Amino acid sequence: MPDRTAAEPNPAPTGRGVWEPTWRRAEGTRSIDLRYLDRDPRTTDRPYFGPVLALAAGHRRRDESLRLLDVGCANGAFARYVLERRPRWDVSGIDVLPELVDAASAAVPEGRFSVADICAPQSLPSERFDVVTALTIPSHFDSLEQWLPQVLRLTAPGGVAVLYGPLNPSPVDLICRLRYAGESEEWLPGWNVLSQRTYDAFLRGRVRSWAYHYPEVSTLGYPATAPADGLSSRIVPAPDGQRLGNSSGLTYHMACVEMHR
Ligand SMILES: C[S@@+](CC[C@H](N)C(=O)[O-])C[C@H]1O[C@@H](n2cnc3c(N)ncnc32)[C@H](O)[C@@H]1O
Repeated sequence: MPDRTAAEPNPAPTGRGVWEPTWRRAEGTRSIDLRYLDRDPRTTDRPYFGPVLALAAGHRRRDESLRLLDVGCANGAFARYVLERRPRWDVSGIDVLPELVDAASAAVPEGRFSVADICAPQSLPSERFDVVTALTIPSHFDSLEQWLPQVLRLTAPGGVAVLYGPLNPSPVDLICRLRYAGESEEWLPGWNVLSQRTYDAFLRGRVRSWAYHYPEVSTLGYPATAPADGLSSRIVPAPDGQRLGNSSGLTYHMACVEMHR
């Protein structure tokens, strides 16, 4: 794993009477993502895979061959999902955790997987892709500037990038860290909710067009009751219908961001 700035267990006063944030910078990496090693990508079928693939494929013919890169591919489950439905596509994945890349390579031999950090341009593939996906990883970063320029650079002109994660239709951005109280000192990134307005400001002038898609929460396959893992998403009632949330009390909309270069 690349060298990271470790989190200090508690905030410390600076001596000037000012409290400085001591949670680590959000570069995405979290120890809990090693849990993907316990899941078989050949049988993992997340409900958002279908809507993301539909946006990625657009109006292209089924037998057309395309180059797809999945950023934050974990154990390769989405790559496997795509290859089963689009066997002519050339599917690659990158992840910052080498253990997950090894697992993806072993379970999905038709895919090409490598270790890379989407925040570190020099670690990324030099080629361009017709489709770039980044699923449930956008919420790991505090700023779009950290990682989205690289996603767009990896997308070939004329290609499409599709993100899936928490998104706020209202003009408010949320940055947060969560932890398992009493169990761990690690403050985890992963639930930031940036607004459409922030995406709009970032994307203007950088892509040809973009659109937001909010799938109906009930179709996304999340549980309606609280799962054992307090940080896992479940459906929660909200004044405007249903949202996702977890035991922190945070609730959020999940959406796809479709961006055309
Ligand atoms: C919440 S998991 C999502 C996995 C998969 N995309 C899915 O939807 O099931 C986030 C993944 O992104 C990876 N990741 C986090 N930060 C990253 C970074 N800076 N560059 C590349 N991958 C990263 C993690 O290791 C993890 O596998």
